Amino acid sequence: MQYQWYPGHMAKAKRQMQEDIKLIDVVVELVDARIPLSSKNPDVDVLAKDKSRVLILNKADMADPAVTALWKAWYEKRKFFVAEVNSRSGSGLKAVQDCINEACREKIERDRRRGILNRPIRAMIVGIPNVGKSTFINSFAGKAIAKTGNKPGVTKGKQWIKLNKNVELLDTPGILWPKFEAVEVGKRISWIGSINDDILVPEEMANDLMAYIISEYPGLLNGKYGVEEVSPEDKPGALLDRIAVKRGCLKKGGETDTERAANLVLDDFRGVKIGRISLERPASDETDNASQSEKIGAENKAD
Ligand code: G4P
Repeated sequence: MQYQWYPGHMAKAKRQMQEDIKLIDVVVELVDARIPLSSKNPDVDVLAKDKSRVLILNKADMADPAVTALWKAWYEKRKFFVAEVNSRSGSGLKAVQDCINEACREKIERDRRRGILNRPIRAMIVGIPNVGKSTFINSFAGKAIAKTGNKPGVTKGKQWIKLNKNVELLDTPGILWPKFEAVEVGKRISWIGSINDDILVPEEMANDLMAYIISEYPGLLNGKYGVEEVSPEDKPGALLDRIAVKRGCLKKGGETDTERAANLVLDDFRGVKIGRISLERPASDETDNASQSEKIGAENKAD
């Protein structure tokens, strides 16, 4: 199965972001807490290399909290200020404000030394599609949303959301696309539902996902569907067959409807009905993850 996504207009989005980044002090980057590396576009590291960095592990309510804590430490080691957030409920937003203040502490002190007082911090949200940027902006800005008009020296048409007296947010997020060099990255992004499902084969996706869940979270599928997870006689797809039978996903004539069963499993996973599951964890030998992002970063520079 080939994972393909996002056409050429993304080059334009990248150029736009290059322009926007010049206007801001801090880049607030959202990733999906279930795949904090695969949902991160390493281009941002190149585009924002001179900026303060805040990383939001968004949708933390869907991920395994123990693994999220590992990722938080992993990114903090790499000089990010990190917050775990549920943008839907608003939990973790206070920590985001603290991260922004911390990330900009040097800038605020530099301003103060120069006699510039109360110049607001300017922030920009970036992330791949569906990671929760709009939801985050709405809940972070909350009722305080007040758009400031164009300002001299700022590119025409830019709108800033005044969050409070200290922070202004560029109202259009920077959208980048995920990198699909590694097959695993494509798989994880498809599992969380961020690739148009129409082009994918549900049975393959569900089988791969269930194999992962069995290896990392044994017992969860059994608890959810009441079926044996692995049996010595199993042929490929046997588990999906068992789930289809158990859930009455049958075609006329009694044959199992594995496509329906696969979609049921994928929906249950995306609705957090199987459990809070993280799809990747920092490698115990950290060089593995680091070399992956460095490799991708190097390819980007060659673009
Ligand atoms: P984007 O701007 O980055 O493309 O993402 P957007 O905010 O549109 O969010 C994509 C989906 O993710 C939305 O669900 C949104 O509600 C959900 N979401 C965002 N942040 C969180 C979070 O922290 N936790 C959880 N559980 N969900 C989150 P949707 O089903 O596509 O839309 P809706 O029915 O919620 O409106």
